[in-house]
Amino acid sequence: MGSLSSEAQQHCLGLLWLLLICLCFYPSLAEIRFTEIRNDDRAIIPFDQFGFTHTGRLELNVSKISLSNSNLDLNKVGFFLCTLDSWLHVIQQLEDGEIRCALESDLIKSVYTFNSLNKDDNFNKLYRESDADQYNLVFANCYQQQLKVSMDVLSAMYNLDGKSSTRDYLPTGKTILPRVYFLFSVIYFCLAALWIHILYKKRLTVFHIHFFMLAVVILKALNLLCEAEDKSYIKRTGSAHGWDVLFYIFSFLKGISLFTLIVLIGTGWSFVKPYLQDKEKKVLMIVIPLQVVANIAQVVIDESGPYGHDWVTWRQIFLLVDVVCCCAVLFPIVWSIKNLREAARTDGKAAVNLMKLTLFRHYYIVVICYIYFTRVIVYALETITSYRYSWTSVVAAELATLAFYVFTGYKFKPEAHNPYFVIDDEEEEAAAEALKLEDEFEL
Ligand SMILES: *[C@@H]1O[C@H](CO)[C@@H](O)[C@H](O)[C@H]1NC(C)=O
Repeated sequence: MGSLSSEAQQHCLGLLWLLLICLCFYPSLAEIRFTEIRNDDRAIIPFDQFGFTHTGRLELNVSKISLSNSNLDLNKVGFFLCTLDSWLHVIQQLEDGEIRCALESDLIKSVYTFNSLNKDDNFNKLYRESDADQYNLVFANCYQQQLKVSMDVLSAMYNLDGKSSTRDYLPTGKTILPRVYFLFSVIYFCLAALWIHILYKKRLTVFHIHFFMLAVVILKALNLLCEAEDKSYIKRTGSAHGWDVLFYIFSFLKGISLFTLIVLIGTGWSFVKPYLQDKEKKVLMIVIPLQVVANIAQVVIDESGPYGHDWVTWRQIFLLVDVVCCCAVLFPIVWSIKNLREAARTDGKAAVNLMKLTLFRHYYIVVICYIYFTRVIVYALETITSYRYSWTSVVAAELATLAFYVFTGYKFKPEAHNPYFVIDDEEEEAAAEALKLEDEFEL
């Protein structure tokens, strides 16, 4: 049995490594952003990233500019747009000594250089971008050692949509996300209705956990609904302060309830036994507070944007906590499998136990697949798909989650004829045989 525990540990280590790799990857965020720069002498300050269509706009309003040294040629200080590809070429050019300043390269699109300031301490610039691509807004200061810059930067990037030229603040690959989230929330509401119907029909065999499952599905549906509204608010206004508080509340409840449900099902609570063992309670006592931390981290990550100072730290915290939670929920399932195997050997009810065993083993595999898919494959998809199709990773994650919910509901639904208890002798013998075989192969 040690083999299954160590397998679970290996999964956790693998997951941790993959997520650490994912840390190096920045998502694209789109909102009107305000950034304060104070006495900064960085050569390059990245601000934001956005997928433009051919009607892209960048509004850049910079105020309270103060420079520590006024005797320099300020055409080597300013803002520019640049795709990731051309940025790699610019770095090459700099290394080869072809150019001495990123702003001199012909691969970048200069937005504003500070020689146009004419002693003002602010400027407003509307930049039109007609080449569809994903751009980074970057500030370059080619006098790194000699010049410190302070300024307040307000940047807004959007695309103009259709004939009426309405602004769309979501990058081109994400502009259909509100609809995607809404569609999934409708699916979950239908699932919740279906579940209520099943609970009503099979009301004599319903356990507490089935009501808990209903709550989890409803929370998931509400969370998706808020996410749809939140994204559509960003799309229309460029700011995230519509339903974001509701969204965070439901994410939080959904996160906690889903992990709790996985643990409860994993322990066999209310199916197999009406109580939790001490070590199983401990898992819950670890997972629930960690989910609180994970949600706080998520809020900070979303609010501060990828180039904020604490962003990387909070993202590390979030990923670490997430991995710990994912690992913690595997152990109750492993323990259940272990207990069932022992029981099968000793109490003679081989068939009953074998059936439960198979169920729990499937559940274990599905939980692992779900965790891998939503944590790792989705990050991979996000990185390799073109910026134009960045919604596909969201759809993939939601489909995987949906499959997981449906599987869990289907396998653990209330049964009128509970297979755990109605077994005839022939089946019993067959199962005992199977169990013997299994012992020889050890999983
Ligand atoms: C930038 O300034 C212009 C002109 O004052 C204004 O119309 C625009 O709304 C400002 N942009 C943002 C994002 O606040």
